[in-house]
Amino acid sequence: MVRKAIIPAAGYGTRSLPITKAVPKEMFPIGLKPAIHYIVEEAVQSGIEQLLIIISNSKHAILDYFDHSMELETFLKNKNKHHLLQHLELPKIDIFFMKQYYAKGLGDAIRLGKQFVGNEPFGVLLPDDFVISDGTPALQQLIDIYQDTHSSVLGLKKVEEDQLQNYGVIRGDAHTDLIQIEGIVEKPKENPPSDLAVIGRYIFTPQIFQHLEQLMEGVDGELQLTDAIKGLIEYESVYGKIISGDRYDIGKLEEYIELIKIMGEKS
Ligand code: G1P
Repeated sequence: MVRKAIIPAAGYGTRSLPITKAVPKEMFPIGLKPAIHYIVEEAVQSGIEQLLIIISNSKHAILDYFDHSMELETFLKNKNKHHLLQHLELPKIDIFFMKQYYAKGLGDAIRLGKQFVGNEPFGVLLPDDFVISDGTPALQQLIDIYQDTHSSVLGLKKVEEDQLQNYGVIRGDAHTDLIQIEGIVEKPKENPPSDLAVIGRYIFTPQIFQHLEQLMEGVDGELQLTDAIKGLIEYESVYGKIISGDRYDIGKLEEYIELIKIMGEKS
């Protein structure tokens, strides 16, 4: 059973400045809900019971959004606007918050979840990556593989060659959509090991924490999750699964605009 998941949401969102000076990118609207609401729903639909959201000082809007507003509820009741109360309903899941005080990288953010996770497998959902799946939610697709293999599983997508330098890129034998990972490189500047990039969905065995705790600065001077995965591969099998569904990067303006349009047509 994969019952727990972590959403790291502490980054500065520098790709989306200036709006991210005041509005966390996780709070960008898609229709009338913020992007992170859909990510939390994906976790719920994938059977996750407890979520840890890692935030930073400038991300209090996320905490407020997932809190109950007694003041607003009372106001709506007093004004006889009971029909609006449904819009205040929150996803049915326990959410915990933790602060990452320094932006030391994705590996550092996930490491903070050690006590929360304990000795269980767990999921990671990067809220930049929005997946519109054709049935099975993206995280659930990875959980299905975990249930067969009891191994860590990375969500993958084929990416254009000139874009590979923006991702973790894997090496492995890709005959089917399930791949045993042999190697992984974070943001390769040249000679990427394949055209398969890691997109922001992962299932990890708790052994990943041993490797997260030993991390040294990697690409961009950050503690990289990819480097911990590299360590894990030395000790146990790690799989990759090509995620079925369309993936949008909220940090890229043109993809964000397309996503808003598509989600608007769906609703
Ligand atoms: C992170 C990971 C990278 C992964 C990507 C997916 O990079 O470090 O391996 O491919 O997310 O979105 P970031 O986009 O945070 O730089």
